[in-house]
Amino acid sequence: MELSMLLIMILLLIFVSTAFFLFRISTSPKAMEDIPGCLGWPVIGESLSFLSDFSSPSGICSFMHKRQQRYGKVFKSFVLGRFTVFMTGREASKILLTGKDGMVSLNLFYTGQQVLGPNSLLQANGETHKRLRRLIAEPLSIDGLKKYFHFINTQAIETLDQWSGRRILFTLKVIGNMIMSLEPSGEEQEKFRANFKLISSSFSSLPFKIPGTAFYRGMKARDSMFAMLDSIIAKRRNGEVIQQDFLESLIIKHSKGTNTVDDENKLTDKQMKDNILTLLVAGHDTTTAALTWFIKFLGENPAVLEQLREEHLQIKASRNDGTDLTWSEVNNMPYTNKVLSETLRRATILPWYSRKAAQDFEIDGYNIKKGWSVNLDVVSIHHDSETFPDPEKFDPSRFDAPLKAFSYLGFGSGPRMCPGMNLAKLEICIFIHHLVCKYKWRALEKDDSVQPTLVRMPKNKYPVMVEPL
Ligand code: HEM
Repeated sequence: MELSMLLIMILLLIFVSTAFFLFRISTSPKAMEDIPGCLGWPVIGESLSFLSDFSSPSGICSFMHKRQQRYGKVFKSFVLGRFTVFMTGREASKILLTGKDGMVSLNLFYTGQQVLGPNSLLQANGETHKRLRRLIAEPLSIDGLKKYFHFINTQAIETLDQWSGRRILFTLKVIGNMIMSLEPSGEEQEKFRANFKLISSSFSSLPFKIPGTAFYRGMKARDSMFAMLDSIIAKRRNGEVIQQDFLESLIIKHSKGTNTVDDENKLTDKQMKDNILTLLVAGHDTTTAALTWFIKFLGENPAVLEQLREEHLQIKASRNDGTDLTWSEVNNMPYTNKVLSETLRRATILPWYSRKAAQDFEIDGYNIKKGWSVNLDVVSIHHDSETFPDPEKFDPSRFDAPLKAFSYLGFGSGPRMCPGMNLAKLEICIFIHHLVCKYKWRALEKDDSVQPTLVRMPKNKYPVMVEPL
């Protein structure tokens, strides 16, 4: 039964992709012919070599390098069912990321669009996008995060005390608590975690909403997550539960349900829920991946670990009354921040930033037509030997002096720059503080392969054996 289902799906996929490819070939704008590059095989295009390079330790670097050497900094390809123009360099990033005059919009895959919903920040443009960003800016600002410090600190200590060495569940607990005061354990947390896992894996799945597929399960999990949110929102509105979290600030200040006056600037429940899901999805896998790479790079670079540990032991020693880490200490960890930047440069956990041309424009002498998918190749920017000599080397001192604008894009840049940057830094700095002050660890497996998902992560999740120092 399972096998026949799989065969039907594969046949369906081949049929749909062939029809789609032929349709797109016949309708692809003439200007695409002027852009150098190769579209590869019918139907699959260059997807196979893209995917195989994507899951190699150096990521899409070799895919990009080969083509950049052949065609230059701008080239076309057909990967993952899309005609795409790849670009790299500081100039391209400035144009694409600042997206002057609404030139480009974000380009989510179909599954991502469906799972996050039509009101998601990731699908919003122009004024709607600006308005949504304003709403989430305050709770995610440094000041807004202060009230979560204690919870994050306690969770980091507890997670490390019980760390099985295989998975970091810490970041999901943090974001669940920050957004809707979810307790770190118990039935609700379990349900939340199970739904989140399904939603997250449906993101890079095939777009078939048939029972048994990852996409179908992801959409069901979205419904279940929304039912959970509906019940929390109802309890908050009728005063049964009062909390000081992100959801509360949306309900009090920004939701339509609190006011009889129909205010255009307020959010409907649908808008609230799509965006809560967006923050969960955008904030969890990325922070977990960053923390995992961070620990892996430390393990592989003992001199960096030593200098980092020095910074943290000094912080601890300066606090001779035996009290715990403080808010001001966590905001003053200069070397840790450089190690984080170097981690995000070397790992480039989001290897390309995808945009859709919202209008015709010219870049590097090429005409880009409205509707085209344009991807910024961030891996090449982060491995440009002019800015980062010996780019494969893990060297946090690269960040001793400020870099030229658009040469480092760990959290992106421009109007879509990561709004969760402060939260991610806070979680990582706290976790690393307790890790390096109290523990040593060693890798349990030697495997450099990378998971072929949108967020780059070591395939084996970097299992480690942790012991007290
Ligand atoms: C180390 C962890 C993280 C990294 C490396 C990261 C990286 C990024 C990058 C590079 C972008 C811009 C992508 C583009 O321009 O196409 C982005 C956008 C975004 N990030 Fe993060 N992020 C992290 C953590 C978080 C957290 C914790 C949250 C939420 C709580 C979050 C929420 C978002 C959202 C909502 C966007 C879309 C912004 C928009 O379209 O306006 N991120 N992130």
